[in-house]
Amino acid sequence: MTRVVVTGASGHLGREVVPLLRASGAEVVALSRRPRPAQPGLTWVTGDLSQPDPLRAALRSGDVLVHLATQPLRAGADLNLARAAVQAAQNAKASHLLFMSIAGLERLQAAPYYRDKLAAEGLVAQSGVPFTILRTTQFHEFVAELLTRLTLPGPLTLLPAGVTLQPLEAQAAARALADLSLGSPVGHAPELCGPQALTFAELARQRGPGRVLSLPLPVPLFRAWQGGAAVPRGAQTVGRTWAHWVAAQEHYR
Ligand SMILES: NC(=O)c1ccc[n+]([C@@H]2O[C@H](COP(=O)([O-])OP(=O)(O)OC[C@H]3O[C@@H](n4cnc5c(N)ncnc54)[C@H](OP(=O)(O)O)[C@@H]3O)[C@@H](O)[C@H]2O)c1
Repeated sequence: MTRVVVTGASGHLGREVVPLLRASGAEVVALSRRPRPAQPGLTWVTGDLSQPDPLRAALRSGDVLVHLATQPLRAGADLNLARAAVQAAQNAKASHLLFMSIAGLERLQAAPYYRDKLAAEGLVAQSGVPFTILRTTQFHEFVAELLTRLTLPGPLTLLPAGVTLQPLEAQAAARALADLSLGSPVGHAPELCGPQALTFAELARQRGPGRVLSLPLPVPLFRAWQGGAAVPRGAQTVGRTWAHWVAAQEHYR
């Protein structure tokens, strides 16, 4: 039976990928900073990747390590998490290290988080551990949370001007990631995106009624997305459109 250790298993993607791995018959060991209850085929290990050796007790020789834990808010933090995951995979002699990354990273280097992700890809690729890097565009779930945070009473949604995204549902990324995790390492997997490129104003309008106001918001992430930089080139299209996904997600609207 394949043993798969998943960091960030409680996150948007982790929540979707863990049940798929279990349904495929893998034994899953999941890392979280908080204690969580075990379920059949799923063991939680409590640990913080910013502390020494959190994966020592979890990761065994020959295991697959799926690294999804992420820290977008502080420059350098995401790279440190990736460094901890790579070192753990090297020490334990993991058979396969999977790393999630972002479509079009080279065009998005105005944001510290994306600089971290590109450097982390380099660490993974040079680790000596057989690896797979899967790049996708932004998740519908992330865009929905962002729109909620940008919405003021009224409602009035403030939007970053000049930004187009082509998001995908985390469930579709999880399906691809689960298949890759249970297969042989492929290095750089084909990029994935959702079916439709939409401006932020279109994303907001398809989410529901309310006024929108597009502004040049001074946020590094939004600056990185300017001028179509986040729109993938030649990526494979998967999952539901934003509109179909939103219609099925009452709590995000
Ligand atoms: N969100 C997107 O739109 C998107 C798009 C493309 C690629 N990706 C990539 O996909 C991966 C997963 O993203 P996501 O959106 O699922 O992330 P997320 O929802 O923000 O979840 C992040 C996870 O990281 C864990 N974590 C954070 N700091 C940690 C630490 N110090 N030690 C251990 N665990 C820690 C958290 O677990 P606990 O709180 O349980 O400890 C949490 O489950 C990331 O590599 C991200 O860059 C995301």
